[in-house]
Amino acid sequence: MLEVEWKPDKQSGEPVYQQIIKQLERQIIDGELPPGTVLPAERALARRYGVNRGTVSAAYEELRASGLLQSLQGSGTWVSRHLWGVQQIPNWHKYTNGGAFLPAYPLSKRIGEACFAPGIINLAKAELSTPMISALPLERLSRIHEAGLELGYAHPKGSPKLREVLAVHLRTQYGITASPEEILVTSGAQQALHLLSLCLLSPGDAVAMEGPSYFYSLPLFISAGLRLYRLPMDDAGVLPEQIRFLHQKHKIRMVFVNPTYHNPTGIVWSESRRRQVLEICQELRLPLVEDDAYGALTLPGRAKPPLPIKAIDKSGVVLYVNSMSKTVAPGLRIGWLAGPRSVIERLADAKQQMDFGTSSISQQLAASFLDGDSWSTQMERLSSYLLEQRQTMLDALEKEAGDFLSWNDPEGSFHFWCRLHRPLDEEELLEAMIREGVVCTPGSVYGAEAGWLRLTYSWESKAGIQEGIRRLTRVLRAF
Ligand SMILES: Cc1ncc(COP(=O)(O)O)c(C=O)c1O
Repeated sequence: MLEVEWKPDKQSGEPVYQQIIKQLERQIIDGELPPGTVLPAERALARRYGVNRGTVSAAYEELRASGLLQSLQGSGTWVSRHLWGVQQIPNWHKYTNGGAFLPAYPLSKRIGEACFAPGIINLAKAELSTPMISALPLERLSRIHEAGLELGYAHPKGSPKLREVLAVHLRTQYGITASPEEILVTSGAQQALHLLSLCLLSPGDAVAMEGPSYFYSLPLFISAGLRLYRLPMDDAGVLPEQIRFLHQKHKIRMVFVNPTYHNPTGIVWSESRRRQVLEICQELRLPLVEDDAYGALTLPGRAKPPLPIKAIDKSGVVLYVNSMSKTVAPGLRIGWLAGPRSVIERLADAKQQMDFGTSSISQQLAASFLDGDSWSTQMERLSSYLLEQRQTMLDALEKEAGDFLSWNDPEGSFHFWCRLHRPLDEEELLEAMIREGVVCTPGSVYGAEAGWLRLTYSWESKAGIQEGIRRLTRVLRAF
């Protein structure tokens, strides 16, 4: 596909037709325009690049002469199918499409690109805003620096100091008992999920996950050759008997769940549902991966969620995953997995082979942050920040969007899960939002049926949220 954002720079002094040649050559050679790709007609490309038709004509002519393009009267212009004979270059298209690791899904990729567009209002980004992160009490960093930064490769399981601190943190904040030997430090929760899918499962294995779920936004399970089955949910969590059913029918080998402030629906599983699911997994001897990335984000004045399933698991079937991304800063890339020693050792060995350990600077910072009172200070700041952000979005939704959307009332986390009163084509909707200067996440990214949107209030300023909802409403009205 032609690069959407690119335009020739008329001020650069380089002839515009040569800039177009270079741009197309680069895209052809890098495999972005594979052999056989039909290019736009001269007039259409000229309009897109804001140049006159003759300029595109000259560029096409020269690319034809070099053998990169072919044209036929009445059939248009396309990238030469015999390119690899003409040019002494590898067939990058074949390589980039041939790797075992799958690219991101097109809708997710498009949202990711749009997030960097200047002026866009971002109601998709599940991240704390820059002012929140830059106000972190990080003065400890200079103290760590004075005491001497450790810059060697970290221990494969993570720095011993951080694992000790995490063992205390898990006990005091989440009621989870895990020794430092039962904790693996990872580069975010994401890496923990990736390691699990690669090291404990084999291609062809079946796994179950909530439907919808954050996990569906990750092609990494499919890249690992896993077969995914959906666990239906109600307001109290997944329906436990469905685990037994999928186990009998498809021999599922692992269950992935996100029981507290589930992404994207915000559901908090009830305590009894947690116990029922745990009992079934114990009975079936089925590992249960509990992703608790949002678990600490209860809004002020709302009921605390029940303890994580890991806290009531005496048998060791639960593999508990969490990180500092949603509570402190995603750029630290500090996550962890708590589980049986044998699992930690297997994953640590793989992690060592992949990346020689998570950044030791981040680990020192994380240990220092979680060891002192910074965590509780941060959680206080964070909960009042999120409450205000959420109220701003709620007011804006009530004022603007009630004719088009209904939303839920989560007790914590970053998002509203919204039902469109009329399901729309999500690709068209996303493009219309981007044109209007706003982006949020269509539900199909999480495997939801058509007609859902996730609206996130953690990133934008209050004015941004208000304007974002106005823009979104304009788009919905136009549809
Ligand atoms: C439910 C859930 N789990 C895990 C992650 C990954 O977080 P990280 O790798 O930054 O810790 C995310 C990120 O959005 C998430 O929403």
